[in-house]
Amino acid sequence: FPGYSEGFVRCQPGNLLMPLFFKKDWQTYFNFQLRNEDVFILSFPKSGTTWTQEMVWLIANNCDFQGAKKLLRERVPFLEDRTLGTEDSLKMFLEMSKKESESSVSSDIIIEPNYIDALPSPRYIKSHLPLSYLPPNLVDSCKVVYVARNPKDVAVSWYFHHLLDPIMNTNLTVEEFVEFFIRDEVLYAPYWTNLIDAWNMRNHPNFLFLFYEDLKMDLPAQLQRICRFLGKEELTVDQISALAIHLKFDNFKVNPSVNAQELQEAGYFKKDGNFIRKGQIGDWKNYFGERLNSQFDEWIEKCTQGTDLKFPQ
Ligand code: A3P
Repeated sequence: FPGYSEGFVRCQPGNLLMPLFFKKDWQTYFNFQLRNEDVFILSFPKSGTTWTQEMVWLIANNCDFQGAKKLLRERVPFLEDRTLGTEDSLKMFLEMSKKESESSVSSDIIIEPNYIDALPSPRYIKSHLPLSYLPPNLVDSCKVVYVARNPKDVAVSWYFHHLLDPIMNTNLTVEEFVEFFIRDEVLYAPYWTNLIDAWNMRNHPNFLFLFYEDLKMDLPAQLQRICRFLGKEELTVDQISALAIHLKFDNFKVNPSVNAQELQEAGYFKKDGNFIRKGQIGDWKNYFGERLNSQFDEWIEKCTQGTDLKFPQ
């Protein structure tokens, strides 16, 4: 992949494409010390993870909007953050890709696993790793909320994320990037293994499978689902409307606790562009030509064969 150069590696099982540093670090996540009260929020990147993290945290914390002013990345830390952004991993990326211009990137803001170890229970933890890379007893021991999104929108959103992140610098057009996406040649690929492994767990009592599209189309119903799943008392009408306002795209985009502006300030993300970007269903229609769209449809067809997985839209 031209944007990644040699700083990335295929890992087994599943041919997962990760930063080279992950090779050194995967056991930290696979052997991560779980607690029964932990709640994990999992997804393939760009599926609405940040939005879901905020919903889960707020519902679990009885709509504590004051408490939600603390940075989301501290309230719901990213398990493998340092694989993507510590000094060591950054150095390794930069050496590997012989890029010097990014040497001003600061890694002070990156979450280390010992930060998560030290958090009091209940902990809320985000990861994009497929289930096979997480502790094998995860679903039997903890609660897991998984969010999935139509892969066409995920691919477009992942492209724009690459423009934001100096480490993943790419000069590709959206269409060129999407071709890499459907060849499983982007970070965290393959998309379908991540998704289908989760889909197969959807009936486990400790597992809640959400679709981004459902969150967009009927947020109150999905908030109640999350609430029931977490074993909380049903949300009141007032709580639902307060949550809906807080979680509304336009408000979310300017909310400094969730919009990753601290990463832009730290130089970890570029200053132009927004992490909370557009928030729509079907943005892919603005970028896909007919040929790419039918290629993408064939890929979906092939990869979902033998499953009953269907996206709401
Ligand atoms: P777009 O790039 O299509 O806008 P993740 O958090 O997994 O990285 O997902 C990011 C995607 O979720 C982005 O999609 C982002 O705009 C969207 N998103 C974030 N907050 C949202 C919100 N409050 N409502 C709808 N979409 C949201």
